[in-house]
Amino acid sequence: MHDTCPFNPFVERIRIQEKIDAGEKTSALLSSLGDCKRKTPPLARTIIISTLKNQKKPVPEAFIEGIPKAELHIHIEGSLEPELMFEFARRNGLRLPFTSVDEVREAYEFADLQSFLQLYYQGVRVLVNERDFYDLTCAYLKKARSQNIRYSEMFFDPQAHTGRGIAFDTVIGGIHHAMLDAKQRLGISSKLVMCFLRDLSEESAIATLQQALPFKDWIVAVGLDSSEVGHPPEKFTKVFDKAREEGFLTVAHAGEEGPPEYVWQALDRLKVSRIDHGVRCIEDPDLTARLAADGIPLTVCPLSNVKLRVFESVEQHNLKQLLDHGLCVTINSDDPAYFGGYLTENFLAVQKALRLDRHDIYCLVRNSFQAAFLSPDEKQTFLDELDNYISQNQDK
Ligand code: HPA
Ligand code: ZN
Repeated sequence: MHDTCPFNPFVERIRIQEKIDAGEKTSALLSSLGDCKRKTPPLARTIIISTLKNQKKPVPEAFIEGIPKAELHIHIEGSLEPELMFEFARRNGLRLPFTSVDEVREAYEFADLQSFLQLYYQGVRVLVNERDFYDLTCAYLKKARSQNIRYSEMFFDPQAHTGRGIAFDTVIGGIHHAMLDAKQRLGISSKLVMCFLRDLSEESAIATLQQALPFKDWIVAVGLDSSEVGHPPEKFTKVFDKAREEGFLTVAHAGEEGPPEYVWQALDRLKVSRIDHGVRCIEDPDLTARLAADGIPLTVCPLSNVKLRVFESVEQHNLKQLLDHGLCVTINSDDPAYFGGYLTENFLAVQKALRLDRHDIYCLVRNSFQAAFLSPDEKQTFLDELDNYISQNQDK
């Protein structure tokens, strides 16, 4: 093995651009880099990006279905499908205010976040035993794997359970063991983000953080969710300070229904690594510039935003504008059982409505791996898999 690359990457770049312009295949160009591919990742990426930009063909659904993806914004309790809801209610001897699965689905018409949360908190009542949390998590991870999600960061809401007498370790035990089994059986990797309910007090969040400390190794970050307006991030400054001292990373829902000011607070008071939603940042040019300059990722959830009437339709969604402002946008499903689709359905909807091309899809997927709470080596492994997929599927 040579330690140094036998060719000059700058000369190579020009040679390769000529071949791209002449329509040569990505896979052939990448293999012409040979051993130097790993040493010259910017060059390999140039090839991928240039060939993607040269592609004028429509984006087939199969390209989106098959692309290896990451998901960074999914509430595990929001993946509770009505069929499972009935199953858990039956085995726990609970009555539901619905007579059929169809009736449940028909009830999923929301005016805003609050009207959704009412049904969401009603739904979680069927989760009682560790096995319920285990089965719920297994079902989501199996579905995720079927959509070629390679890595998922899942939110859970402990206070939605401890508040009705379920022990913290019942909740996290079920979820964690499902994550281990899914990794072993399905090959899907996942991490857990613990959210505080922002419509409850900061004292309650602090008590929840205390309960989580024995399980520190099972939780990568803390977040903030539930009813946004009237519950600004600054209300949770102390608990986020403590969480960071304990080694947790931080994220927060902000700028979904709440104003840009809440995004500023999440950045400056809670010192978050990512903003969940954040779509209203566009109303404040200084904020948009700050997010772009600092490379703060947004975990955007298009179908959720339409279901909760943040935007009238997918066509009206500002995702493309956010990308055009240079923001690190990612696509996610939020509460897929309630909002009409998992991650692939979200990608398909925005691709169609906003006429995204292959290069846009590649950037969105790449952003998710880049924004994930993974080590540089872990990220690189997923990014290599992604680039490999692109080069193998150029003709599809
Ligand atoms: N937004 C805020 N809080 C939530 C959501 C959401 O979409 N889902 C579950 N809790
Ligand atoms: Zn959310």
